[in-house]
Amino acid sequence: MANLLITGGAGFIGSHTCLALLLAGHRLVVLDNFANSRPEALRRVAELAALEPLQARGCGDWATADQRLLVHQGDVRARQDLDPLFAAEPIDGVLHFAGLKAVAESIAQPLAYWDVNVAGSVCLLQAMAAGGCRTLVFSSSATLYGHPEQVPIPEEAPIRPINPYGQTKAAVEQLLADVAASQPAWRIARLRYFNPVAAHPSGRLGEDPHGMPSNIFPLISQVAMGLRPVLEVFGSDWPTADGTGVRDYIHVMDLAEGHSATLALLLAEAPQLLTLNLGSGQGHSVLDLVNAFAAASGQPIPIRLSARRAGDSAASIADPGAAERRLGWRTRRGLAEICRDGWAWQQANPQGYGA
Ligand SMILES: NC(=O)c1ccc[n+]([C@@H]2O[C@H](COP(=O)([O-])OP(=O)(O)OC[C@H]3O[C@@H](n4cnc5c(N)ncnc54)[C@H](O)[C@@H]3O)[C@@H](O)[C@H]2O)c1
Repeated sequence: MANLLITGGAGFIGSHTCLALLLAGHRLVVLDNFANSRPEALRRVAELAALEPLQARGCGDWATADQRLLVHQGDVRARQDLDPLFAAEPIDGVLHFAGLKAVAESIAQPLAYWDVNVAGSVCLLQAMAAGGCRTLVFSSSATLYGHPEQVPIPEEAPIRPINPYGQTKAAVEQLLADVAASQPAWRIARLRYFNPVAAHPSGRLGEDPHGMPSNIFPLISQVAMGLRPVLEVFGSDWPTADGTGVRDYIHVMDLAEGHSATLALLLAEAPQLLTLNLGSGQGHSVLDLVNAFAAASGQPIPIRLSARRAGDSAASIADPGAAERRLGWRTRRGLAEICRDGWAWQQANPQGYGA
């Protein structure tokens, strides 16, 4: 059992990973400012982990009665929010999900992205160093490969981000390499996610972004539900089989299990800097995804083809071989399960956690 700090634990990937970590026996302290999530997500994590009733601790903070899940509202850019967490108890490791993630928004608001993603990571690392914690799992992204020269993409492929979001992920990856080189005690994993989608199969946990979703899966779900009239598909002239972009979609529960396996490796092995792609190794076009979702939901999904979007690429598929070799992990859920679980979440929660 490890005592873990989860930044951004109320978000899409963070909440599913919190559940996987609780079920693996760990104790969690979550820090989230709820900029893109709702506290209800963590209440449902507690419910799915069968934890005892909740106790308020003031200022929006709460904990389960057995203290296995503690929730603090706070900001990764604020030492006054971070330092008390490290002072209160020894933290064995940090999983750092907190960040901003929308490519188009990052082009419009680069300062916000450099502030939250990069300055937030610097602040977290400073607090970790001061608090004596040197184990970190960082949420990186396949977006830093830009327009890849080859697919599937191995970890050794050149880092050439093509948008400010990707630039911030590349900058934090470099920061982590510098930190690891400066002191051999650090145990750091940089996990490059491909396209996380779907939801917990219970229909109780899922993706609930604030405002207009920035990625395709929640948009498809909302069109299937009749909440939006049409799905806009950006780019139908990419050099791919059907002209739409090809992505490596990974079920969020596979991703959550990948984090659990990574943490176990970091805690068991000698200190190291580990860099892994987390993806399925399978590519599906936007039209493949739309057709699979229409089949899973039994609903029509009208589409409108539009021009390519700035900052997008034709194809992005992981070479997941290193993750399989190092973690003994690979994705277990395919496109049909992805669409089934995403649809179950959308149907049960048409307004997300806000309903
Ligand atoms: N979802 C994807 O497609 C994807 C792909 C690759 C990498 N990632 C990365 O994975 C991480 C998690 O992504 P997600 O999809 O769960 O996003 P998300 O927006 O659902 O979750 C991020 C969480 O961080 C919180 N947060 C944001 N700014 C914060 C701050 N300053 N202080 C504290 N909390 C803050 C948000 O409220 C939210 O709960 C992000 O770092 C993202 O860049 C996501």
